[in-house]
Amino acid sequence: MKQILSKSIAWRENFQLNRETEALRIFYGPGESEHPELSKIAIDLFGNHAWITQWSKIKDSAQEEIRQYLLNEKVFGRPIQSAVWIDRSSDKIDDAKPFLGEPPREKFEVREFGIPYLVQMLETKHPGLFLDHAPLRQWLLATQNGKNVLNLFAYTGSLSIAAGRGGATNVVTLDLSKPTIQWARESWVNAGLPDQEQNFIFGDALEWLPRLAKKATQENKLFDTILCDPPSFSRSKTGTFSTQKDSTRLHQLIFPLLKKGGILVTSINSENILERDFLRDIAIAAEKTDSKIRILKRIDLPETFPTDTRQLSTRYLKGFYLLKE
Ligand SMILES: C[S@@+](CC[C@H](N)C(=O)[O-])C[C@H]1O[C@@H](n2cnc3c(N)ncnc32)[C@H](O)[C@@H]1O
Repeated sequence: MKQILSKSIAWRENFQLNRETEALRIFYGPGESEHPELSKIAIDLFGNHAWITQWSKIKDSAQEEIRQYLLNEKVFGRPIQSAVWIDRSSDKIDDAKPFLGEPPREKFEVREFGIPYLVQMLETKHPGLFLDHAPLRQWLLATQNGKNVLNLFAYTGSLSIAAGRGGATNVVTLDLSKPTIQWARESWVNAGLPDQEQNFIFGDALEWLPRLAKKATQENKLFDTILCDPPSFSRSKTGTFSTQKDSTRLHQLIFPLLKKGGILVTSINSENILERDFLRDIAIAAEKTDSKIRILKRIDLPETFPTDTRQLSTRYLKGFYLLKE
């Protein structure tokens, strides 16, 4: 085990953690190891704190070996101060539990490409920063100067913050969870961006999109960039949403809000949906809304999530950067 983990961490020296980037996946078992126990887990680093995810039952002895590894080995030359463990092996998922040392009780700041994001280790099922979308945040930082941006399904708003710090003049952040949208606003302000209550919307994207379209058309202020990264399934007051069934409906609501020359970045986190089926759903929506769309770039997992090509289920992230012509 020790050898496998050390090898995985060693090649990530290329993406070395430094003062600019302190958050990184340091081990992705499902794609990176055939070890019977290690292949069930991933280890993410947030500063000096580790977040370990388990996807299927793992032996107690293996868990102990991982604890000893993190206790005794330095990662990128630094000791691990604390770790939490989340068990995702069944339908009932509890919050992450302390695994090593004393994990921070409060939210704390980690930097990625020099930008601070607030993350949390305890009393949560997710730390608040999706590391697989790091390339998208990097792109937003580099390209959004002067842009009008809409971030749907925003979670803790990391994409909004990257766009804001990239110079976007207006960023609308929307999510169905109230605590999450509050977290997004807190993290936005923590990143030195101006507090704008009206730009943080707690609501259902499918319900809000027609409203936003009406307002944007009236004010002649369509969006330059729209970010759309829904969960596989969700339930709101007005109904359910699933990427399997509702991608066309969702994109039909999005395209009218996007300026000509604007870019939609749309992704799904679903091992069961093929990229070509997702694209077909988008194409139908484009046709129905009379929108001419061109693919600029595909979205795939970044290098720090190496995947085994024989195991499609490990390649869950898919999507596109789409230009509206
Ligand atoms: C996969 S996460 C998005 C991650 C985010 N793009 C990021 O990079 O941090 C999905 C988010 O969609 C939100 N959500 C689920 N159903 C929704 C809906 N109908 N309208 C708006 N947000 C929704 C959830 O609360 C969750 O925060």
